[in-house]
Amino acid sequence: MRQLSRLCRLCCVTALLNQLEEAANAAHTFFMANPEHMEMQQDLENYKTMAGKVRLVDREAKPHMENYSAGVKHYDQEEYALAIESLERALRGYYTADVECRVTCEGPQRFEEYEYLEYKADLYEAIADHYMQILVCQHECVRELATRPGRLSPIENYLPLHYDYLQFAYYRVGEYVKALECAKSYLLFHPDDEAVLENADYYKSLLEETMDPETIKPRKEAAKFLRRHKLESDLLQMGATGLGFVYTEPSYWSSSSARQDEHRVPSGVNSEPADGPALSVGKKPAPRMDRELREGGSLLYSDVQFIYNSQQLNGTQRVLLDNVISEEECQELRRVANGIMLAGDGYRGKSSPHTPNEKFEGATVLKALKFGYEGRVPLKSARLFYDVSEKARRIVESYFRLNSTLYFSYTHMVCRTALPGQQEKRNDLSHPIHADNCLLDPEASECWKEPPAYTFRDYSALLYMNTDFEGGEFIFTEMDAKTVTASIKPKCGRMISFSSGGENPHGVKAVTKGQRCAVALWFTLDPLYRELERIQADEVIATLDQEHRGASDLNINPKDEL
Ligand SMILES: *[C@@H]1O[C@H](CO)[C@@H](O)[C@H](O)[C@H]1NC(C)=O
Ligand SMILES: *[C@@H]1O[C@H](CO)[C@@H](O)[C@H](O)[C@H]1NC(C)=O
Ligand SMILES: *[C@@H]1O[C@H](CO)[C@@H](O)[C@H](O)[C@H]1NC(C)=O
Repeated sequence: MRQLSRLCRLCCVTALLNQLEEAANAAHTFFMANPEHMEMQQDLENYKTMAGKVRLVDREAKPHMENYSAGVKHYDQEEYALAIESLERALRGYYTADVECRVTCEGPQRFEEYEYLEYKADLYEAIADHYMQILVCQHECVRELATRPGRLSPIENYLPLHYDYLQFAYYRVGEYVKALECAKSYLLFHPDDEAVLENADYYKSLLEETMDPETIKPRKEAAKFLRRHKLESDLLQMGATGLGFVYTEPSYWSSSSARQDEHRVPSGVNSEPADGPALSVGKKPAPRMDRELREGGSLLYSDVQFIYNSQQLNGTQRVLLDNVISEEECQELRRVANGIMLAGDGYRGKSSPHTPNEKFEGATVLKALKFGYEGRVPLKSARLFYDVSEKARRIVESYFRLNSTLYFSYTHMVCRTALPGQQEKRNDLSHPIHADNCLLDPEASECWKEPPAYTFRDYSALLYMNTDFEGGEFIFTEMDAKTVTASIKPKCGRMISFSSGGENPHGVKAVTKGQRCAVALWFTLDPLYRELERIQADEVIATLDQEHRGASDLNINPKDEL
């Protein structure tokens, strides 16, 4: 009887694996060249269920934004007169576009989000409803106008930032009246912004001798705009109460998104503007994280060696560890990688999706288990890959003191091999600078957390398997995707882990000789985005374990059976 049930379990494993293989193969063939697309596939499924809810985006150019971008560029290059010209044009463009945006809100429409439309209304309610819709639409113009063509999320604090840039630019060209006027305009939006308050005080002190600074008022258009905005907001709240629906005012300008520099005028500085007061060009503010940042938790395993924390890696939520796996384990994993890849059954892209100068191959945990089960690689070694990734997950979860369970969102082994004869004068990267959960936009110094980025990724880790290659350093950069802030030479057992957002842009330098192999892991805190393959791999492992127990009960050498 036991024999039978054991055989049956074997059938189950086989059936399970075959079924999975079919699914996996379809995806593999389609997304052969780029393993990341495997995850993309999962993404697409998720998006499909949300289909219909995705707003269509106006991809037409927005002139006010072009002028804004030009202005910010000039500002960054300290060309203040040109910056003023562009930013003033951008402001004029903004207010014109605002009028247009509001006009398009009028007329019949439907708001999917607002359930209150579904009830049967009497005439007055219907009229009220109609005007509420228009009002919401007009109120939302703030967001619409701050959204770049083709994007879903607006630039935070967009309109106020114009005044922020302008106040400092005017100061730098010696126009203190306008500097004060713009500072005061900015303060209409953010009355408590300390840096701008200080600047305003300083401009006042510069003007005091020649005039009464109190006569300088914020710009009329800004004051009018904000008055109307507040009024709309009040009306919406009132209407919502009256009509019985919930209206939550979004935060239209969050002041945490400040100008990307520290060009603040320190208060009480009396030097001549021609020399420039002692301006500190400090670090750019790190992108905000919506969770408390912690690190330094236990590494759980005594062999694992701590090397660098975030500070030593010149960033946030970063850690470098050594000895996560031993030399023997590295070699064993390497054999798994080569076993699968030699069979041409991993991702057999001839060249890397990232560079034509390298070959890029990979395999997932499930693929390895399948190969193990079929005896094409040692089952024990395939199992090691599974165990090692779990070890990495536990370490990351513990080190960053995460409060909730960290789940796998994608795991694979990847090897990058330099193609001989193509390494002369190479100046590309093995993997271009990117962030793992948002679309890095170096021009705008933003990282857009929207599709097709893997927005649900929270932490990333790379566990290296070997040293015998040239190049291939892992690098972190600033949001500009150029300025390298830390560089790490891979070696067996070394693991770099970091939070997956815009605070951690990274890439891989060209591998110029040999083969560089690593286990790449992405994790999510959201169980909704758990890796399907992982759950399947867990099942396979559980079944194999059961079998193993069954086998030892009977004192049968599993090898004879398999
Ligand atoms: C902004 O820039 C565009 C092109 O860069 C230009 O056509 C437009 O006139 C400018 N001004 C405004 C107010 O939009
Ligand atoms: C930890 O989790 C609890 C409950 O989920 C939450 O209230 C608390 O704020 C979290 N703490 C941190 C530091 O994230
Ligand atoms: C961090 O920055 C310092 C100063 O630029 C540099 O010397 C150091 O190598 C960086 N750390 C790493 C790990 O690259």
